[in-house]
Amino acid sequence: MKWSLLSLLPVLHALSTYAAPSAPEAPQWRFDLKNVTSGIVALEAIVVSPSLVVMFDRASDDPLQINGHSAWGALWNLETSTVQPLDVLTNSFCASGALLSNGTMASLGGDPRGFPGNPAIHPGNQAIRIFEPCASPTGEGCTLFEDPATLHLLAKRWYPSSIRIFDGSLMIIGGTHVNAAFYNIDPENSFEFFPPKEDTVRPSAFLERSLPANLFPRAFALPDGRVFMVANNQSIIYDIETNTETILPDIPNNVRVTNPIDGSAILLPLSPPAYTPEVLVCGGTQTDPIDPSLLSSQTPATSQCSRITLTPAGIAKGWEVEHMLEARTMPELVHVPNGQVLIANGGQSGFAAIATVQDPIGNSNADHPVLVPSLYTPTAPLGRRISNAGMPSSGIARLYHSSVTLTPQGNFLVAGSNPNAMTVVGANVTFPSEFRVQTLDPPFVFMERPKLLNVPKKLAFGKRVTVPISLPNSLARPGAKVQVALMDLGFSSHAFHSSARLVFMDATISPDRKSLTFITPPNGKVYPPGPATVFLTVNDVTSEGAWVMMGSGNSPPTLE
Ligand SMILES: *[C@@H]1O[C@H](CO)[C@@H](O)[C@H](O)[C@H]1NC(C)=O
Ligand SMILES: *[C@@H]1O[C@H](CO)[C@@H](O)[C@H](O)[C@H]1NC(C)=O
Ligand SMILES: *[C@@H]1O[C@H](CO)[C@@H](O)[C@H](O)[C@H]1NC(C)=O
Ligand SMILES: *[C@@H]1O[C@H](CO)[C@@H](O)[C@H](O)[C@H]1NC(C)=O
Repeated sequence: MKWSLLSLLPVLHALSTYAAPSAPEAPQWRFDLKNVTSGIVALEAIVVSPSLVVMFDRASDDPLQINGHSAWGALWNLETSTVQPLDVLTNSFCASGALLSNGTMASLGGDPRGFPGNPAIHPGNQAIRIFEPCASPTGEGCTLFEDPATLHLLAKRWYPSSIRIFDGSLMIIGGTHVNAAFYNIDPENSFEFFPPKEDTVRPSAFLERSLPANLFPRAFALPDGRVFMVANNQSIIYDIETNTETILPDIPNNVRVTNPIDGSAILLPLSPPAYTPEVLVCGGTQTDPIDPSLLSSQTPATSQCSRITLTPAGIAKGWEVEHMLEARTMPELVHVPNGQVLIANGGQSGFAAIATVQDPIGNSNADHPVLVPSLYTPTAPLGRRISNAGMPSSGIARLYHSSVTLTPQGNFLVAGSNPNAMTVVGANVTFPSEFRVQTLDPPFVFMERPKLLNVPKKLAFGKRVTVPISLPNSLARPGAKVQVALMDLGFSSHAFHSSARLVFMDATISPDRKSLTFITPPNGKVYPPGPATVFLTVNDVTSEGAWVMMGSGNSPPTLE
């Protein structure tokens, strides 16, 4: 008698079905591929309203069209998973941006060059692109405003970082002037502000020292008003008021973390009453900046994460080293509303930038994409903080020029990747221009969730606020863990989520479980005034976010 595997299958299936009656399965993390593509490569992404994400690419030959040419800006609708083109004047390639205290999004800097065949492009390296607060859920009537002649940066900046600071304005950090093979060879080693605080830039000794790999410095507004920065393997705290820097220890073990040797960094959640800042830096490469001709797409990235507490004692102790489950170049670190950190995207070897190593994969300087995200739990003991248990594979390489952002719905939007100089589709290269959009959905998306009802549109600093809530019965248990997070969802560009912030607020649920009382942060140093999303998490099940204005909503600079 012959047995074939095929003939056994129904038997096995029947056995497994009838022998073990299915227990209800706990929901898992899932990737969900959207039915519509982004139309442009989403190499930058920022949530600008409860339903809208602004995406930018380089001015290129993307399929999405506007005014008879390829678009390089787009509005992604989170509710309908659809995309519409945005009319951009200047080249937004490798720009950064953030939301201001009045809710306006500013996109800053970019590429000085045009693109053959796309006549609409103005140089982007001094650009200030304004997207005013958009009340329409579909983005109707909302567009970018640019006036390069009168509204522009003081310096020319390509690959700068931008963060919102304590007075709701933006600090713009570093950049380069020219297109270079690999390193920053014509740097703009200075800081400036938008709106400007003075009429000249502030030269930065830190940016001088961190050459030649100091593009897209990873920077955070600290709860004392100063700014932490890491570039290459160096870090400082910068005092905006006195224009002075304090040098901190280097990232250990020769690890470098800024473009084109991209690791990433995140300001860990801040909690009352002390709001003690801790910074986590992950990935990049353990290498000396050497001759680019010796660099390879197969150069291993590092799995190293380094963490420092930014108090005098923490700085004296220095960086604590731990390891991701795999090496990653160009990972992105994103806050989860329960205080964990999502580690997503990137490759296990190579570098950022395009076709500049000796053996690119197609045009990609990086190889061996990491498809399975991990979660970092800051409160777990050292060595037990990182896990990918239950995490799915995305199935899509997200290497150079990809983005990921937490959404107000509580899931993550994952898009982009284009380690090519222009749009490359089809099977011609291993890593083509990636237009597919996914969400990464946490388990709670498939469960009954708590609801925040009627959160005021504007919250003042240092106030006790009570809002109605609804709690599913499954969560309405005494002793449940309650977390209320006030979050800036950040601006994703080049493996860094600038201005991303999670401030926990002291909170209690009323005995009848119908209302929630929380206490807002004391001032704009703890949460720079501006848009925020409030999430309620009960036993790791997170509500949809409530989009609020933290502070007065005044135009910057404002201290309230
Ligand atoms: C996906 O889009 C195509 C083309 O617009 C449409 O025919 C199809 O029904 C859509 N599928 C789903 C599941 O929405
Ligand atoms: C940081 O980089 C510099 C320049 O390459 C190197 O001299 C120094 O040893 C590095 N620091 C550490 C801690 O590896
Ligand atoms: C890419 O591949 C397609 C077939 O898959 C071919 O028609 C096209 O000419 C190729 N393009 C380039 C630039 O090689
Ligand atoms: C917000 O402030 C910026 C910078 O001054 C300004 O360009 C923008 O128009 C302001 N937006 C609103 C809605 O007031």
